[in-house]
Amino acid sequence: MLSKWLNESSYTVVFTGAGMSTESGLPDFRSQNQGLWNKKDPSKIASTEALNNNVHDFIAFYRERVLGIKEFKPHKGHYILADWEKQGKVNSIITQNVDGFHQQAGSKQVAELHGTLQKLHCQTCGEIYSSEEYIQREYYCSCGGTLRPSIVLFGETLPQDAFQFALEEAEKAELFIVLGSSLSVTPANQFPLVAKEKGAKLVIVNREETDFDLYADQVVNGKEIGEFLTELDD
Ligand code: NAD
Ligand code: APR
Repeated sequence: MLSKWLNESSYTVVFTGAGMSTESGLPDFRSQNQGLWNKKDPSKIASTEALNNNVHDFIAFYRERVLGIKEFKPHKGHYILADWEKQGKVNSIITQNVDGFHQQAGSKQVAELHGTLQKLHCQTCGEIYSSEEYIQREYYCSCGGTLRPSIVLFGETLPQDAFQFALEEAEKAELFIVLGSSLSVTPANQFPLVAKEKGAKLVIVNREETDFDLYADQVVNGKEIGEFLTELDD
């Protein structure tokens, strides 16, 4: 059925979460066994409060994640999505991920709702640095300000351009496919509903059930995303 919808859809939008990158080696946040937030309280680590009052733990956590996105690479599923964009089968990707793997695999139309770990910026002068800097040097800018990853932390609003692009894409979608997200976080988890309300078919592919499954036209649980996309690509 999904293969038929994918071939017939005039506008297909893919929405990805951390589950899209676990097969590349990056842990997700809320999976029973490996989720990052099972071991750490996100509000104490991935928040503006942590950046301002617990900066050493903050840097240690994000150095670890920067090392991860440098060590690991996009997997076959990322390349299939990029190929489908070239074929016109996928129009855009809305991602909550900060690893930059969709772009590395060749996808062009990508909205990064939560920013990117591939860049750092100075909190004082705004100077942009490559995230390698977080590994090699102290986290100070040449102006003396401190550097931080260019991601959205708990307590911050999403980048308006990515938010607006995602809203427009969700409204245009005829087919909206969620890949690897628990849909636990606002406002990211609202985009599947926007698409559904505008008449799109909603498909949710996730190892575990989500609270949004009841709104979906098709739910695929218990299947790895890489396998799911490979089967659909044949
Ligand atoms: P939240 O669950 O409290 O919701 C964010 C609130 O801000 C919502 O009410 C939403 O409507 C509003 N909002 C945010 N950006 C907006 C925008 N651009 N336009 C309109 N409304 C907007 O979120 P939170 O717990 O404060 O976390 C904020 C965001 O940071 C979440 O999306 C979260 O996923 C993200 N985050 C990212 C990381 C990371 O490592 N990248 C870590 C933690 C949180
Ligand atoms: N195939 C299918 N599903 C998978 C796979 C896989 N290979 N790996 C993990 N999953 C599923 C898990 O079962 C989980 O339900 O992906 C989902 C990932 O959900 P989360 O860990 O909650 O990640 P995500 O939805 O991206 O979190 C949203 O929260 O902390 C913030 O900003 C952070 O962007 C993140 C946001």
